[in-house]
Amino acid sequence: MAGRFIGIGVGPGDPELITLKAVKALQAADIICIPKSHANKPSLAFTMVKNILDQRKQPAEILELIFPMTKDELGNKALWTKNAGIIAEKVASGKVIAFITLGDPMFYSTFIYLYQSLKEEYPKLHLEIIPGVTSLTACAASAKIPLAEKEEVVSVIPSDFDTKLIEETAKHADNLVFIKCAYRLKELIPIVERSGFKENSTIALVRRCTMPEEEVLVGKLSDVQNWNICEDYFSVAIIKKRAFISDKL
Ligand SMILES: C[S@@+](CC[C@H](N)C(=O)[O-])C[C@H]1O[C@@H](n2cnc3c(N)ncnc32)[C@H](O)[C@@H]1O
Repeated sequence: MAGRFIGIGVGPGDPELITLKAVKALQAADIICIPKSHANKPSLAFTMVKNILDQRKQPAEILELIFPMTKDELGNKALWTKNAGIIAEKVASGKVIAFITLGDPMFYSTFIYLYQSLKEEYPKLHLEIIPGVTSLTACAASAKIPLAEKEEVVSVIPSDFDTKLIEETAKHADNLVFIKCAYRLKELIPIVERSGFKENSTIALVRRCTMPEEEVLVGKLSDVQNWNICEDYFSVAIIKKRAFISDKL
C-alpha cells in the first residue's frame, strides 16, 4: 500500500474533542509521530490520544521528533529539513505516518514548518491534513463568549507582537484573541484601551482549556489589574469591544 503522511489535530485538551476521522487515522497508522520541544519533555498531544492508541490490537511504532521552540531560524530550518527527511524515507517505504499536534494543524502549529519542508524537499509526497478543534473556539466555548457575530471582525494576535502593531491591529477589530498571552495580559490592557476598547469591554482569560486544570476568568477590562494570573503558556484571552453578559460572569 502507498505510504502517506497525515497531520492530525487532536484538539485543545479533552480527549473527547477529537474528530472521528482523526480517531480512525490513529487506529490505522503504522507510525505515530510525536513532536516534542525537548527530548525529556512529555507530549501533551500524546497524552490526549494515548487511550485510542492503547486500544489498538497491533501497537503502532512511535517516532518522536524534536522541534525546539527557539528563534534561531537557520538552526530550526536545518532541523525541520532533517525531520522531513526521516518522514519522507518512511513514507517512501510504504508506511502511513500520523503526526499529532495540539488544536488544529494549520493554526500556529509545529506541523506547518514540517509541512513546508516536506513540500519543498519532497513535492510528490502524499500528504493529508485532518483539522482539529482549535484553542480559539474551545476557549470561547469554555468562557461562554462568542468570538464573532454579524459583521464583527476578529483579530488573532500572538502576544509577543510589537506594542505599536497590537495597537494598530486592535483599532480595526471588534473582538481580539491573544494567544501565548498570560505573561503579558496586564500590560496589554492599556494598549487595547488606546485602540478604542473600553473599561467595560468584556474579557475572558482561559487557561488549560478543556484540560482537568482548566481555569476561566471573565470580567471587564478594568478588572484585569486585580486578577491573580497564572503565567501558563496554555492561555488564551478573548476581548470583546462591547460588554457581553457571559454565563460565567
Ligand atoms: C503554538 S500555539 C498552538 C495552537 C493550536 N494549534 C490550536 O489550534 O489551538 C500555542 C498557543 O495556543 C494556545 N492554546 C493551545 N491550547 C490551549 C488550551 N488548551 N488552553 C488555552 N490555550 C491554549 C495558547 O495561547 C498557546 O500559547
